[in-house]
Amino acid sequence: MVDLIPSLEELRSRPMAQQPQYPDPQAVEPVLAELRKRPPLVFAGECDDLKARIAEVAAGRSFMLQGGDCAETFESVRAADIRGKLRVLLSMAVILTYAAQVPVLKVGRLAGQYAKPRSKDTETRGGVTLPAYRGDAVNGLAFDAASRTPDPNRLLGVYNHSAATLNLIRAFVKGGFADLRAVHTWNSDFVRNSNVEGRYEAMADEIERALAFMVACGVDDASLRTVDFYSSHEALLLDYEHALTRIDSRTGTPYDTSAHMVWVGERTRQQDGAHVEFVKHIRNPIGLKIGPDATPAEVLALADALDPDHEPGRLTIITRMGAARIRTVLPGVVAAVEDTGRRVAWVCDPMHGNTFESSLGYKTRAFSQVVDELNGFFEVHRELGTWPGGVHIELTGDDVTECVGGVDELAEADLANRYETACDPRLNRNQSLELAFTIAEQLSRGRALRHNPVQEFHVEDF
Ligand code: PEP
Ligand code: CO
Repeated sequence: MVDLIPSLEELRSRPMAQQPQYPDPQAVEPVLAELRKRPPLVFAGECDDLKARIAEVAAGRSFMLQGGDCAETFESVRAADIRGKLRVLLSMAVILTYAAQVPVLKVGRLAGQYAKPRSKDTETRGGVTLPAYRGDAVNGLAFDAASRTPDPNRLLGVYNHSAATLNLIRAFVKGGFADLRAVHTWNSDFVRNSNVEGRYEAMADEIERALAFMVACGVDDASLRTVDFYSSHEALLLDYEHALTRIDSRTGTPYDTSAHMVWVGERTRQQDGAHVEFVKHIRNPIGLKIGPDATPAEVLALADALDPDHEPGRLTIITRMGAARIRTVLPGVVAAVEDTGRRVAWVCDPMHGNTFESSLGYKTRAFSQVVDELNGFFEVHRELGTWPGGVHIELTGDDVTECVGGVDELAEADLANRYETACDPRLNRNQSLELAFTIAEQLSRGRALRHNPVQEFHVEDF
C-alpha cells in the first residue's frame, strides 16, 4: 500500500481532530492488526457503481436520499430495528419516486455510523465530570467512569455490528422485502390516524393498481422486486478507516471498504488535517459536510483537494446551514463551485443546523425548521438554476419523540415519552414520511427538468 495511501504514522503526524484518547495508546495496535486481516465489508466495484449513480445525481437526473441514525448503537443491531429503518427509507423513496417521478438513489446512514464528533471533550452531571460519549466505536453511553473510558477493542465491535447490519440489509433488499408489490405491508402496523398515513395508503393503492396493470401487460422487471441500497458513515476514526482500506485487485487503487461512501464532517474538514488527507487517497465516493461559516474559497479549496480530476460522482457536498442562514450563505457556495465547471451532488442536511435545547433540557429539532431549511435549499437551487440533488436526514423507523412538531404535533412536553437517541434527535416514522411528501412537492415542481438535458436547466423550469 506504500505510496497509494498515507501510512497511519503519516496521518497521525497531521492535525487529527476528534480522536479518542485511549488510556493506553499502544492497546489499539493489536486491534488494528486484526482489522487489517478481516474481509472487506463492501467491494470496490460496488463503490464504483455508487459513484456512477451519484454522477447521475450531480447531472440532475436523480435524487439522493441518505438517512439513518445520528449514532447507531451496538444494542440497536436487532432485526426489528434494522428493518424499521430500512422500511422508512424505502417508504420515503417510494413517495419521492412516485410523487415526483424522479429516480431515487438510496443511501443508508448505517452499518458503520458508530463514531461521533463532540463539541466538548467532557460532560458534567451533578458535579461529576467524565469523558463525553463519542459513539459506541469509542466508549459507552452510560454515565459512569468505566463506560466512558475509551476502549480500542470497541473497533472490533464496529466491524462486527456493521457486518451483521449490512448482511441483513443485503438480504432484505434483494430477498423480497423491497418488492414494490409489498409497498402496503411496509407500513401495515401503522395506527392509521393521521393524514400522512392516509396519504401514504392512498399512494400505495395507486402503486398497487399500476403494478397490477404492468404485470397484466407482461412487465416483470427485477427492478420492481429488488432495490440497490448503499451504506455510508462519517469517516471519523482514522485508525479504523485506515485499517479497512484495501487495494482493489482490478484497478490497483485503494478503497475504504468499511462503507460504500464515507464523508468528512464539518468538524474534521481542516484542509491540512488528517481526515482530508486520508479521503483524498481512497477511491470511494466522498461526502463533505459544510456548515454556515464555510467560505466559498474554503469550499473550493476542499473540492480541489478531494476531487482534483473533476471525476463524475466523486464529490457530494452536504450543506447544513440552518434554516436561518441557508438562503444567505448557500448561494455563494454553490455559485463558486458551479462557476469552476465542476459538477457535484448538492445534498441538504436540514438537521444539524437546527438543533436546540428544549426548556426541559432535551436536545431537539423543530420539524418546521427542518422543512424551512429544505425549502430554502430548493429555493436557492431554483434561483441559481442548479439541481437540488438530495437530502441527508437523521431518522428512525420507530415512533420516538425526539423532534417537535410534525403531523402528530409533538410538543416539548412530549419529548420525555420516547426520547431514545444516543446522540442527535431523529425524525420518527411519521415525521419522515411527512418530510418525504414535502420534498416530493418541491421536486415535482421541477418534473419538467427530467426531460431536458442538463445544460437546458432554467430557473423557470422548476
Ligand atoms: C452528523 O452528521 O451527525 C454530524 C456530526 O454532522 P456535522 O459534521 O455536520 O456536524
Ligand atoms: Co447528528
